[in-house]
Amino acid sequence: MLRDPAKEVMEKAYARWAPVYDVLCGPVFLNGRRAAASAAREVGGRILEIGVGTGLSFDDYDATTEITGIDISEPMIARAKERLNSGRYPYVRDLKVMDAQNLEYPDATFDCVVGQFVITLVEDPERVLSECARVLKPGGQIILVNHLYSEKGLAAAVERLLAQKARRLGLRPEFPFQRLAAWAENHGGAELIERRKVKPFGVYTLVRFRRAERQRAAA
Ligand SMILES: C[S@@+](CC[C@H](N)C(=O)[O-])C[C@H]1O[C@@H](n2cnc3c(N)ncnc32)[C@H](O)[C@@H]1O
Repeated sequence: MLRDPAKEVMEKAYARWAPVYDVLCGPVFLNGRRAAASAAREVGGRILEIGVGTGLSFDDYDATTEITGIDISEPMIARAKERLNSGRYPYVRDLKVMDAQNLEYPDATFDCVVGQFVITLVEDPERVLSECARVLKPGGQIILVNHLYSEKGLAAAVERLLAQKARRLGLRPEFPFQRLAAWAENHGGAELIERRKVKPFGVYTLVRFRRAERQRAAA
């Protein structure tokens, strides 16, 4: 298994992706993005999207929500701002360049934190999850969607083989679900409430955590 990706590698990769991201990646991630946004709309209220990218998800929200988006990549956020300037998304309140590992928001600010295709790409995924939990109100949810490691069989072997090359492209096929589950067990203030494959192809997995009303002693 490769080490978690360095921040600089991702910044470099997404500076290259930004001009072509919507055309090349938009359709590929579409059903995952929609599934996550749909789950987030059920929670409603103030939603933080980490790794918001070019803002492709804006179309999947509506006026029952208030969206704040952050991303580590300046060129990706610049694209999201262009999209926002169309005037079609009055419910998108703020877009900022920010590292999900150090969220500049007070505790208990949001009802929901969404991460679409990002948690596998950060330098310290457990720290990002803890930051997401910190900025959530009690009872709020973290909703993640991603391709996760297949763990066995041919698919797992191919993912391991592609891991090194994928890294330079800003992708990561070999991230196991177990790390997400272990984070929740150890955190003490979040519980895993859902893990399901996204239809129709089941390539992506949607994972939801709920912020506990009270912190319990960490495992
Ligand atoms: C695969 S793209 C997904 C973009 C968008 N969520 C979507 O579904 O179209 C991953 C995004 O995560 C961002 N990212 C990577 N590491 C990050 C970090 N530490 N903090 C915030 N964003 C990060 C990248 O810059 C990129 O925009």
